[in-house]
Amino acid sequence: MKWMVPKVRKAVFPAAGLGTRFLPATKAQPKEMLPLVDKPLIQYGVEESVHSGISNIIIVTGRGKSAIEDHFDVNFELEHLLETRGKRELLTNVRNISEMIDVSYVRQKEALGLGHAVLRAKEIVGHEPFAVVLSDDVIDSETPCLRQLLDIYEFFGASVLALMEVNGPEISSYGVVDADPVSHSSAGGRLYRIHNLVEKPKASEAPSNLAIIGRYVLTPEIFTSIEAIQPGSGGEIQLTDALRHLLRNRPLYGFKFEGSRFDAGDKLGFLKATVEFALRRHDLGKDFREYLKTLKL
Ligand code: UTP
Repeated sequence: MKWMVPKVRKAVFPAAGLGTRFLPATKAQPKEMLPLVDKPLIQYGVEESVHSGISNIIIVTGRGKSAIEDHFDVNFELEHLLETRGKRELLTNVRNISEMIDVSYVRQKEALGLGHAVLRAKEIVGHEPFAVVLSDDVIDSETPCLRQLLDIYEFFGASVLALMEVNGPEISSYGVVDADPVSHSSAGGRLYRIHNLVEKPKASEAPSNLAIIGRYVLTPEIFTSIEAIQPGSGGEIQLTDALRHLLRNRPLYGFKFEGSRFDAGDKLGFLKATVEFALRRHDLGKDFREYLKTLKL
């Protein structure tokens, strides 16, 4: 009988970073609450998670905790007002998200790194596989990116990272993998077995052009690895370093996901995402396109 791979039921959303690239907007609110058209970044990630079959959401918060909590909470006053004014569509919209998920919060008091943020969720996750979603990476794809990773996880029962090709000097802003392609029937040449990972290497020293982006499916042994490592690049407890530690006794896969990814934690990336998402909206796209055409570029 084939070994039953434990199901991934929980997704951790680290949202406690300082967001220095987006100051001053992130002085008093986390960047995850910045709106892309009319939804905060974190809601795109939460919807991706729900559409991938995971509705148990754990948010790691730092500053601006109340803005995130309020967003996913029921707002009776607002709902009552929308109801009495007959704004049915807005009401459904506002209600949907809090009804779709079961959310819990854990605090990261100091921004000591992504690995440290993930470790804060250890108690709530328990000894189960889980997903990690960095919601400042907004992904537009036919099949949700997280679902693509879960399909690989469900076959191999091992941790899987989302990968993206990055060419040129920009590679040094990412965690980069040293990996070999693996042939797998439904992966269409997108699957890799990872042998090593380096956080933010110099472009000349990058082991490949395959960068890690903000979607992970991890087995619970990662917690022991995070506890075992020392602060690395930037003095932070890096998830990449913990993954390298995990590799000592666990296999690790990378999947070059299908879709487009926007780094909405960066001003230019955020602007690009705003334009593309607005153009695709059925209620805004046409007028917005007409407006853009009038600009003398
Ligand atoms: P980033 O690397 O984008 O860092 O974090 P940052 O501090 O948020 O932003 P910049 O670079 O200063 O502009 C990647 C993800 O990890 C979370 C962030 O919230 C983001 O989702 N994170 C990072 C934490 O939750 N805690 C940390 O200590 C660091």
